[in-house]
Amino acid sequence: MGKDVIIACDFASAGKTLEFLDMFRNVKPFVKIGMELFYSEGPDIVRKIKERGHKIFLDLKLHDIPNTVKKAMAALSKLDVDMCNVHASGTSAMMTAALEGLTREDGTRPLLIAVTQLTSTDQSRLESELLIEKPIKEVVMSYAKNAKDSGLDGVVCSPLEAAAVHGTCGKEFLTVTPGVRFADGDKGDQKRVMTPAQARAEGSDYIVVGRPITASDDPVAAYERCIREFVL
Ligand code: C5P
Repeated sequence: MGKDVIIACDFASAGKTLEFLDMFRNVKPFVKIGMELFYSEGPDIVRKIKERGHKIFLDLKLHDIPNTVKKAMAALSKLDVDMCNVHASGTSAMMTAALEGLTREDGTRPLLIAVTQLTSTDQSRLESELLIEKPIKEVVMSYAKNAKDSGLDGVVCSPLEAAAVHGTCGKEFLTVTPGVRFADGDKGDQKRVMTPAQARAEGSDYIVVGRPITASDDPVAAYERCIREFVL
C-alpha cells in the first residue's frame, strides 16, 4: 500500500471546496470530506469531487446498530468513495456488518478504517463518564485489535501511536494519522503533533493534513511540501 497525503477539506460549502481544489492543476490530491461539508451539501459534493478525479475519504464516523450501519454503508459504497470509517466502540458486530454493507456485488469495496477513542476524550472522562478504567493507550490498542479481527483495513490514530498499532496489528494494517504540522508551522488547536517526515519515520500510511495546506498562502506548494516530506 503506497503512502499518501489526504487533504482535510474542512470547508462550509461546495463552492469554497471546489474553488480550493481548482488550484490544483497538475495533481488530484486525495481529499477528506467530513461531517460539516457532507451534512451541508449532501452526497452531491462527493459525486462532484469524484467526477474531478480525486480519491475521497468520507469521514462520517458511523456508530449505530449493525443493521443500520450495514445499510448506510451500502449507500456510501454506491457513492464510490475510496475510504470511510466507523467507531470501533460500535463493537465487532457493527464493524462486520459495516464491511458487509460496503462490499459491492463485484466484491470490491472502499477501505474501511476505525476510530478508536477520539483524541478529545482524555483519561479522566474515560473513567468518570464512560466507566472505562484501563489506561487510554491500552484501550486504543485493544480497539485497534478488534477492528483488525473484524476484518477492517486500519485505524485513525495519532502519528505517535502508529508504530504501536503496527506492532499490535501488523505492518499491513493501515494507520491514517491527523495531527500533522510543518516544523516551522502554527500548531493551532492540535496539541500533540508531528511533522510529515516524523510521521513517515513512525510508519504512518496516510497523513491527514488540513489547515497547514488549506490556510496556507500557497496551498499547492504546502501540499507538495507534504508529499516531498512524507511520500518521496
Ligand atoms: O487542520 P488540521 O490539520 O488540524 O485538520 C485535521 C483533520 O483531521 C480535521 O478534519 C480533524 O477533524 C481530523 N481529525 C483530527 N484528530 C482526530 C481525528 C480527526 O484532527 N483524532
